[in-house]
Amino acid sequence: MNAPADVLQDVCRVEDLPVGEGRTYVVDGEQVALFRHRSGRVSAVQAACPHAGGPLADGQVDESVVICPLHLTAFDLATGEATGGGEGTIAVHPCRVEAGVVRVGVDVR
Ligand code: FES
Repeated sequence: MNAPADVLQDVCRVEDLPVGEGRTYVVDGEQVALFRHRSGRVSAVQAACPHAGGPLADGQVDESVVICPLHLTAFDLATGEATGGGEGTIAVHPCRVEAGVVRVGVDVR
């Protein structure tokens, strides 16, 4: 049975995510890109760029945006919206770190 968005699931240990980089995981059958920021915060968004499926986990990331590696559209990690004149929106998933474990919720209803 699939979990609603407000149910977070254990995905990985926080140290499995290199600081300043992304990794792709499957959560409830959904590909999710996780980013561990230099501040220690972790973000979770859909893994495939809405433009042409670029792997967002391979993009450059800072505290607030990820840049798709294929055509360089930047997406706000809080709202999911493209910035800087780009088009499209990515799903932003609830995510938190508890006792060193990254927990993510994916809305699959
Ligand atoms: S595939 Fe991401 S901007 Fe084109």
